[in-house]
Amino acid sequence: MDKNDIKRLIGELTLEEKAGLTSGEDQWMTKAVERLGIGHARTSDGPHGIRALDYTDPKANVTMPAVCFPTAVTTASSFDRDMLFEMGEELGSECHAYGVDVLLGPGVNMKRSPLCGRNFEYFSEDPLLAGELGAAFVNGVQSKGVGTSLKHYFANSQETRRFTSSSEMDERTMREIYLPAFETVVKKAQPWTVMAAYNKIGGTHATANKTALDEILRKEWGFEGLVVSDWGATHDRVGAILAGTDLTMPAEDTDMQIVEAVKNGTLPEEALDKCCERVLELVFKAEEGRKVSAEFDPEKAHEKARKYAANSMVLLKNDGDFLPLDKSEPIAFIGAFADVPRFQGGGSSHIIPTKITGALKAASEKGCKISYAPAYDPATGKTDTKLFTEALDLAKKSEKTVLFIGLPDSMEYEGGDRPHMKLPEDMNRLVEAVCTICPDTAVVLHNGSPVEIPWADKPKAILEAYLAGQASGGAAADIIFGDVNPSGRLAESFPKKLEDNPSYLYYIGEDDRVTYNEGLFIGYRYYESKAMEVLYPFGHGLSYTSFEYSGMDLDRWRPLDPETETVTVTVNVINTGKRAGYEVVQLYVHPDHVKMIRPKRELKAFKKIYLEPGETKNVSFTLGKRAFACWDPVSHGWTVEKGRFGIEICRNAHDVIARRDLWTR
Ligand code: GLC
Repeated sequence: MDKNDIKRLIGELTLEEKAGLTSGEDQWMTKAVERLGIGHARTSDGPHGIRALDYTDPKANVTMPAVCFPTAVTTASSFDRDMLFEMGEELGSECHAYGVDVLLGPGVNMKRSPLCGRNFEYFSEDPLLAGELGAAFVNGVQSKGVGTSLKHYFANSQETRRFTSSSEMDERTMREIYLPAFETVVKKAQPWTVMAAYNKIGGTHATANKTALDEILRKEWGFEGLVVSDWGATHDRVGAILAGTDLTMPAEDTDMQIVEAVKNGTLPEEALDKCCERVLELVFKAEEGRKVSAEFDPEKAHEKARKYAANSMVLLKNDGDFLPLDKSEPIAFIGAFADVPRFQGGGSSHIIPTKITGALKAASEKGCKISYAPAYDPATGKTDTKLFTEALDLAKKSEKTVLFIGLPDSMEYEGGDRPHMKLPEDMNRLVEAVCTICPDTAVVLHNGSPVEIPWADKPKAILEAYLAGQASGGAAADIIFGDVNPSGRLAESFPKKLEDNPSYLYYIGEDDRVTYNEGLFIGYRYYESKAMEVLYPFGHGLSYTSFEYSGMDLDRWRPLDPETETVTVTVNVINTGKRAGYEVVQLYVHPDHVKMIRPKRELKAFKKIYLEPGETKNVSFTLGKRAFACWDPVSHGWTVEKGRFGIEICRNAHDVIARRDLWTR
């Protein structure tokens, strides 16, 4: 069905049928027009697993089991484009099994504050990382003939008053922080759909925001797909069509507003036709996509989910190489999350897993000698005298302990923001007590966003497992007992306390205005520019081996003309340890002598590489204009100042390994 066929079809539609095409049939499907052979396209959440309705009886609204893969906060920590692509392929294949044509993800909103209740569903505080991984995921899903929905476009960085609040920011902040992840995914992956967010942007709802939807998304970036509203995010059907929201979801009984508007001349029929064209393009892409052959085996997918989780978890601390533990020695696992891990967040992305692998089960399958005490109620994180005493008694009898703690489901979910960054108080007490009794203790954290860790100096090791999907416990056990060498790096900063976070004074805003007063300076852009110490920096993560760097070089020394030239950066990476492992090579650009106000450094390239013990690999990156550019609010375009830029290979956003200077002209 090419564009001419679609235009012909549109010519045969009645006005009422056209209006009907721009809103849903029900909660998940587009409308069909049987007499013209136009079928439905079926959507389904979500970014890390299918919230699969029994599509044989969609009205039953029954969610069927599906594989829960690691959430975005977890997979972002892999810094692994290939893994995100592969996970996308897996989900695309599973969509075929469930009759899903469009998977409603990925979410690439920036993490302005650790408090956002949906941070677990988003990748990072850094737009480059979020964009690159989001594009890989979209390409993976769509390689299987299944569409995606890039969301939530844009500046949907809080849950409080999400339906009515207006995100207000200056042009540079918008262009350099809140748009680039969407821009990268559109330009590198052409998602079948983009989901317009609930919030307003500069006072106009995203679904009615022509600047965002038409001028930037379509005309400037070349987006070719369909814009769908977030569910219930359209407040004005006619305004939505005029701005470029092609499909309002879910079903609404407001189609007649569009018919009336065309009849009374307030809505040009050509604008309606354009939206119908995109709906039909989606429907026929879905029809074609269903022909793609795709195998899906839930058991194999579960094992892949375990591999992805293990490739993403972040070893934050490992004093004296405490981890990995020896499978032959008796170990105490303390904490109910050892039995059933917290592995996903609450809200529209929440699914019923096909199975769950907890660390306790995985460790016993490895033949480990594990004793166990639940210590707290997993639903609340609260303990009682019996549970607490039992846990401490076990710690007293143990040589080594692994504590599993984190945020209960009730503390982070879609639709709400956290009031603080604290773990449940009883869990903090538990860690302090157990580490005092049994100093040889490691802690495994399950949380969808940074938490304050007042006891960070107490345990020998801390593994950030995040919300790592249904195989989370298996992955944690694989790392704890050394079957996997951890290689995750933080995709967000862990401040020491909430008050250190740059959005702290302004987050959630006042009434319906949310002013992004911290501007460009979110996450490490703030902490590094302020030289503020954090608990763990963006890009941080330990390994069971060690890596050294040498021979950093540029392929040019002359000043760079950024409009026409590029610079290639090379560096050698050596595995100086005794184990094979993955290293994430991180390249940042540090504007030195420039007039514009810039963050101290920004991630501009990264690569994850595998090295055998003693192996050396030469890694190269080619940087173009955008690696040095900032947005000029006067010319309303990207500009590179004449000046000096430090090109830095870093272990994380704070620790510079090597730097070479480059002048621009
Ligand atoms: C929700 C979410 C969106 C989801 C949609 C369908 O409110 O904001 O991410 O895909 O509605 O459930």
